[in-house]
Amino acid sequence: MTARIIDGKALAGVVRQEVAEGVAALVTGGGAVPELAVVLIGDDPASHVYVANKIRQTEAVGMRSRQFVLDAETTERQLLDVIETLNRDPAVSGILVQFPLPSHIDTARVVTAIRPDKDVDGFNPLNVGRTAAGMEDALVPCTPLGVMRLIRSVHADIAGLGALVVGASNVVGRPMARLLLQELCTVSIAHIRTTDLERRCREADILVVATGVPGLIRGRFIKPGATVIDVGITRIRSGSGNEKLVGDVAFDEAIEVAGAITPVPGGVGPMTIACLLANTLSAARMAVARSKAAEADASAAA
Ligand code: GUN
Repeated sequence: MTARIIDGKALAGVVRQEVAEGVAALVTGGGAVPELAVVLIGDDPASHVYVANKIRQTEAVGMRSRQFVLDAETTERQLLDVIETLNRDPAVSGILVQFPLPSHIDTARVVTAIRPDKDVDGFNPLNVGRTAAGMEDALVPCTPLGVMRLIRSVHADIAGLGALVVGASNVVGRPMARLLLQELCTVSIAHIRTTDLERRCREADILVVATGVPGLIRGRFIKPGATVIDVGITRIRSGSGNEKLVGDVAFDEAIEVAGAITPVPGGVGPMTIACLLANTLSAARMAVARSKAAEADASAAA
């Protein structure tokens, strides 16, 4: 059996189109053009590429963007001041601080400082809690949100399926498990201390892998017919000396066993930025709803 390839690039195009239509409808209804502020610290080349992509795609769907590039010596206090200014600016719908941050800056303090209703990364503890509680107004981390959409393109209903998430990071693994649980999957999380990974993987109807270890998941780890989502993306030098991007799953083996699988590149990656745009639109919509509710309260009190 050869697995169906889940085309993340095509699905991301669908999400971007939905966002572009949502932005147009919001503006037609009298709302301001949503705006994403992106803060980048230091000169990590990969981060610069990611941020340039985020800005380009934000503008392509009709939203505004604002970019702050701060030097690597920026203090935590200076960064927190930038965030506070953006928190207070009503023109800004969403704030994203690109990771990784320089080691002298406390990441937890930074994510906590971002106003929860502008936290388009979904990393603020309030959004983590809202996601865990299945609350509708949660801003959910972009990669897990994109993965759910990819899974839904294969399965109309995942309730009751066994899901294993390999990797327990705050950015992907943990929020991923919470979203799968919300859809009533029977969820497990495997991590660096998990024993017998192969057997646990083989029990999963849905396998989501986010470890950053190229080729960790071999074909024999996969339950025949399972849906396999590969979040990993690592640049390696191939035998011929060329660089290429590879995932955490040994794709050539897995495709012979799985029912459906995401490629690397072209699977999860494009969905992450598309979902960032969707979160920015959600944040802008919620801001409009809040200001309408405040106006209604004010006129009821008058
Ligand atoms: N760096 C790598 N992935 C991410 C992400 O999803 N959000 C932010 N802010 N930084 C990242």
